[in-house]
Amino acid sequence: MDAILKVTEDMEKVYSAGGNEMFKGKVFANLFYEPSTRTRLSFDAAMKHLGASVITADGLQFSSLYKGETIEDTITVICQYSDAIVMRHPEQGSADTAAAVATVPFINAGDGPGQHPTQAILDMYTIFKERGTLDGIHITMVGDLKYGRTVHSLSFLLGLYKDVSFTLVSPPELKMPEKVTSFFDEKGIAYTEVESIEEGLDSDVIYMTRVQKERFEDEAEYERLKLKYILKADHVRDRDITVMHPLPRVGEIDTDVDALPNAAYFRQVRNGVVVRMALLAMLLGKA
Ligand code: NCD
Repeated sequence: MDAILKVTEDMEKVYSAGGNEMFKGKVFANLFYEPSTRTRLSFDAAMKHLGASVITADGLQFSSLYKGETIEDTITVICQYSDAIVMRHPEQGSADTAAAVATVPFINAGDGPGQHPTQAILDMYTIFKERGTLDGIHITMVGDLKYGRTVHSLSFLLGLYKDVSFTLVSPPELKMPEKVTSFFDEKGIAYTEVESIEEGLDSDVIYMTRVQKERFEDEAEYERLKLKYILKADHVRDRDITVMHPLPRVGEIDTDVDALPNAAYFRQVRNGVVVRMALLAMLLGKA
């Protein structure tokens, strides 16, 4: 993680200078079998800023997977066309299946409610840039901690640093899964589970999440929980707390927060491109 942060800082200069031709002649594949705007375009931008050509497959319904092809076969085929593969897929565990057969570098861009490692890495970079450190960070995570894959991955990464602590704000139905809390327990990481935003405002970072509509079987349950937590400017205006969100937001951060200097979620998006440039360079042995 420290190495990635360092390469990302170098990449900032490349990005600000308009990119380079590091990957001229390379072809990268972006496979997005689940809706995405930010992550897909962020990878696309990162690849193109480094001079690569990009081939894309969008939407499960338009792909051979829909005809019944296995993930293994799809990946084996696409490895013949490309020098690296990025994949988002609705099934938890699909990234492991794909990576097991990939003969080119493979990046998980979100496997259902599983994990979203590149989002977590850009979140780590954002925390480092906004707060100047990762050691000692107290983070509050709010919202859909059950289905929100970004908070799972971020917990595992931030948990690698010294003296970090977590305040987890969610309704009982959307609590952080056991796979994450048992990791906290094993590592002796301090965490508390509460039900109101107000109990989570004494942190360095507040990380808001969207309630993941597409993971609910019961629409009425989603409707009941979707706007349980709304962060307003009054919550954070005079506090030294950095506000983050992986986006898209669907109402859980009031737009009156946007103008505050501690609203970091749009800076977080920019960091995503630079982090992905760094990751591609590292995976292909260029950094
Ligand atoms: C997140 C995702 O896809 O998990 N978005 C993103 O990658 N920026 C968060 C979300 O969809 O709520």
